[in-house]
Amino acid sequence: MRFNGDVQGYRRTASGTQPEYLHPSYTSSLRRAPTLPLVAIPHTLSEITGPQFNPDDVPSHLSDLTRQHPGEPLGERIIVSGQVSDEDGRAIGHTLIELWQANAAGRYLHAEDRHDAPLDPNFSGCGQVLTDAQGRYRFVTIRPGCYPWRNHHNAWRPAHIHFSLFGPAFATRLVTQMYFPGDPLLLSDPIYNCTADEEARKRLISAFDWETTIPETALGYRFNIVLRGREQTPLEAAP
Ligand SMILES: [Fe+2]
Repeated sequence: MRFNGDVQGYRRTASGTQPEYLHPSYTSSLRRAPTLPLVAIPHTLSEITGPQFNPDDVPSHLSDLTRQHPGEPLGERIIVSGQVSDEDGRAIGHTLIELWQANAAGRYLHAEDRHDAPLDPNFSGCGQVLTDAQGRYRFVTIRPGCYPWRNHHNAWRPAHIHFSLFGPAFATRLVTQMYFPGDPLLLSDPIYNCTADEEARKRLISAFDWETTIPETALGYRFNIVLRGREQTPLEAAP
């Protein structure tokens, strides 16, 4: 493709709708926050194009985290589904969504996780799926447990699922966290509260969903995601 210089970039995010780089109650942000003003780089073809995914790249069993081992994982089975769209509500189809999470006891299958909680031999906590043509996705998984971290005295993360999305371009790449409605730990969680705008912050909380709840099997949670522009889902403020 020839670059003719006539590139329309993506809309920049509105103030307060994304995590602050410096959020003192989130202690690791003190060490990594930029100390100089940021420099806005114009979007070129490199930013407005991105990887394309083929359905054959993502085996269908990766969207069911309860069926990746010989036995069933412990915990509360849930369905997480939703739609991925742009700021005008246009569906973003055939894009890759990856998730990772702790098990029901609040423990990650990761060498760095020192939480004194059991691993589950039937749960790895990683999944992948492509959105369909209407931008819809669906995972079957286990509700993750809360876990402690050392940000401050008696700090516990609210239950959450990490999400990574690519979208149609590198400028639409999003890494974020989904929370559960009514979690009392949200009020004191510095990562959730890094985003100043309350409406933007609430976009990170999934909604309980009768429509996708399966009788006698699993509760459903809906998590719609907007990539770039107005109503954009906030990034996670990760260390
Ligand atoms: Fe986490």
